[in-house]
Formats: sequence, C-alpha cells, structure tokens
Amino acid sequence: MPAITAILFIGDVVGRAGRRVLRELLPELRETADFVVANGENAAGGIGITPKEADELLRLGADVITLGNHTYRHREVWPYLEDEKRIIRPYNFLRTQPGRGTTIVERDGVTLGVINLSGAVHLQSAAPPLVAVDEALREVAGCDQILVDMHAEVTSEKVALGWYLDGKVTAVVGTHTHVPTADYRVLPGGTAYITDVGMTGARGGVIGMKREQSIAVMRTHMPMRYEPSDEDPWLNAVLIRSDGPRRAAEISQILRSAP
Ligand SMILES: [Fe+2]
Ligand SMILES: [Fe+2]
Repeated sequence: MPAITAILFIGDVVGRAGRRVLRELLPELRETADFVVANGENAAGGIGITPKEADELLRLGADVITLGNHTYRHREVWPYLEDEKRIIRPYNFLRTQPGRGTTIVERDGVTLGVINLSGAVHLQSAAPPLVAVDEALREVAGCDQILVDMHAEVTSEKVALGWYLDGKVTAVVGTHTHVPTADYRVLPGGTAYITDVGMTGARGGVIGMKREQSIAVMRTHMPMRYEPSDEDPWLNAVLIRSDGPRRAAEISQILRSAP
C-alpha cells in the first residue's frame, strides 16, 4: 500500500448545474485523489439518475456513484443498476429492489470498498442501517480502505453510525440534506466523519431547486413542478487522507464555487 491514499467524496450532484461544476472542477481535483466517489441521486433534472448522467459522472472521473431515496425515479436506470458494478444504492433497501449496496474498486493495487446506506427516519428502508451495516461490512471485508455513504435525513442517525463504525472503516460521510455541516473530523478510533457533505449544485436555489418554485409551494400549499436551479453553482466535497488500512489521518472540506 502507498504511504497515503486520498479519497475525494462529492456531495449529491444536482441537475445540469451540478454536472457542469464537475466538468469544470473535477479534472483538477481528480489529480489530488486516488479515488473519487460521488453521490448521484439528483443528477437527472434534480431527482434521480439515468444511465446517461451515470455514464457522464464515471467519464468525468468518478470511480463509484452512490445513491439514495431517489434511486428508482427513472425506470431506465433499473437494469443499469444490475449491470454496472460502479453504481450502488442503499444496502438496506429491500432485496427485491434492483441493484447492489456495496462495491469494491481497485487502483494501483489498493482496494476501496464502498457501502451505501439509507437512514430509517423519514426515509424508506427495509432494515435499520446500524444493523444492516454489519452484513454490508462482510461484503467489503479485507479491503484496504472502506467508505460508507450514509444517506439520511436526521443528524442523530448519522452521528450514531459514525461512532458505531469508528475504528472499523476509513470514513463515514453523510448525504441527503444538501447542506454541508461543519463537524468534519477524525474520530478517536481513526474514522473520518462528517454529518453531511452538502451538494454539488446551485446554491441560488432551495437545496438545488428553483427557489421561486419552493417558496410558492410553501406559501400556497399547492403542488408545482420543481426544476433545478442554475444560479450560483458550487461543489461541496470532502477529501479524506489515509495513512494505513481502514484508517483516516485527516479529513478536509472542499467548498468551491464554479469558475
Ligand atoms: Fe440528494
Ligand atoms: Fe436524498
């Protein structure tokens, strides 16, 4: 294993603006990381992903794409989730739902296992994430590095998972709220942790969608079509540096506006 392994994790990529940010910023950031993992659950028009956006994220340099509650929004991605090993959906979904919840990628002789989990509070999941993760860990046992994307609404579930996995995995990163938290740190057992990485999308909107539409819905209680915003796109990510197997030495936050 090399002395240092760097893993870049990119928060939920939202719509066209999010993909544009990646086209502009990822080539340079890719140079700083051995592995890139991106949450792509909002890549297609702000909700879900299709094979087209998934292929684009992989082409831009993502080694693995993780997902979340919007996984199955677009029917055309269902068979893709079965065929493409580099895209995963929460492990604790039903076994009957398409796709897998863990994957292993390799670069220069180093293996990275990635686990995707869904929170159980205010989100649909088949098993509690803190129980299901035991089985998921067995699927990536022996990997040099392990990263867990915990896609969850409430902070307590993510904090608890971080503590539960401290010393067992390289990193536990939270996604789904689209708002980056300021609590990134390496826990005492050597696991890098952040409650939410944030999103890669338009900060001028409401968690990535046009703010006029969100405000109108909240003011009228009437349904309306949501479209992703293009205003003020940012990249939200974390860079985790590891100096040993399944152990983080450092985690830093990368919050950058598109040029
Ligand atoms: Fe999201
Ligand atoms: Fe989500």
